[in-house]
Amino acid sequence: MLQRPRRNRKSGAIREMVEETTLTTKDFIFPLFLLEGSNKSVPVESMPGINRLSLDNMLKEIETCLDLGVKVFDIFPVVDEKYKDKTGTASYDENFFYLKALTEIKKKFPEACIMTDVALDPYNVDGHDGIVDDNGVILNDETLDVLAQMAVAQAETGIDIIGPSDMMDGRVGEIREALDESGFTNTSIMSYTAKYASAFYGPFRDALDSAPKSGDKKTYQMNPANKREALIEAEQDELEGADMLMVKPAMTYLDVIHLIREKTELPVTAYNVSGEYAMIKAAAQKGWLDNDRVILETLLSIKRAGADAILTYFAKEAAQLLKK
Ligand code: PBG
Repeated sequence: MLQRPRRNRKSGAIREMVEETTLTTKDFIFPLFLLEGSNKSVPVESMPGINRLSLDNMLKEIETCLDLGVKVFDIFPVVDEKYKDKTGTASYDENFFYLKALTEIKKKFPEACIMTDVALDPYNVDGHDGIVDDNGVILNDETLDVLAQMAVAQAETGIDIIGPSDMMDGRVGEIREALDESGFTNTSIMSYTAKYASAFYGPFRDALDSAPKSGDKKTYQMNPANKREALIEAEQDELEGADMLMVKPAMTYLDVIHLIREKTELPVTAYNVSGEYAMIKAAAQKGWLDNDRVILETLLSIKRAGADAILTYFAKEAAQLLKK
């Protein structure tokens, strides 16, 4: 035998020397759930270890994470029913607690990179990412205007990256144009490029209480059966001015991450979503899987598939594990 691949695995030193992929804390984006008010920390039942936090507690959490080397945060608001209407007007009201909190966070931690979410589902009474008409149809072009207003309002707080998660056609271009017209030429867009109509978002919708009141999201989020279609989305987002392209979910869409990585020169990110987190945590709690090893293997695999960065609820825990 001239080739004995095991020779390259014979010791830890050799294995590390020939290692093709390295997972680091710099790869992580930590999604956080913001509550209105103060002194609140409310666990998300379906996501053990994850809490919805009021601003004061979130500032402490961000500080802890920064010390661990996690520097990028994606902040989602938990919106009370009383603020919801048909078109999500609260999302661009400058007095809205989410926008005020973002300003505070950037003021306190200018070195942190803060990302925000653009979509209507936490803000409208229908729990859909776009405006819903009387017949239950999601209105694409009417929604674009609200998304653009929302993005500009978020940019005004000084945040770094806008994350359009709505999957309306043409939204990246509309948002880019609105940001530029308002002078926010330096605000980035990380587009949810290939976002699938997935069953893995359940725990997130529990956390935000943002599940659709009727119907599903299949007329705007992608069909899990499709891969070529992700390239159409990617090309579109790139032409419309996206700075980074995201694939979501991650674990069951590694092929899509790989495909987009091959086709674009832009950074590719992947969202290791709430259901993927819940699945691993549940098995680990039962003692069926080794929590620490499964977390690191999962994140490493997403990176190996081609993701430059990973949005993951494991960010803080994985950073602690990588420190050990
Ligand atoms: C909202 C949004 C969702 C997620 C991120 N932004 C839910 C959805 O589209 O229904 C899911 C994130 C997760 O499951 O962790 N547009």
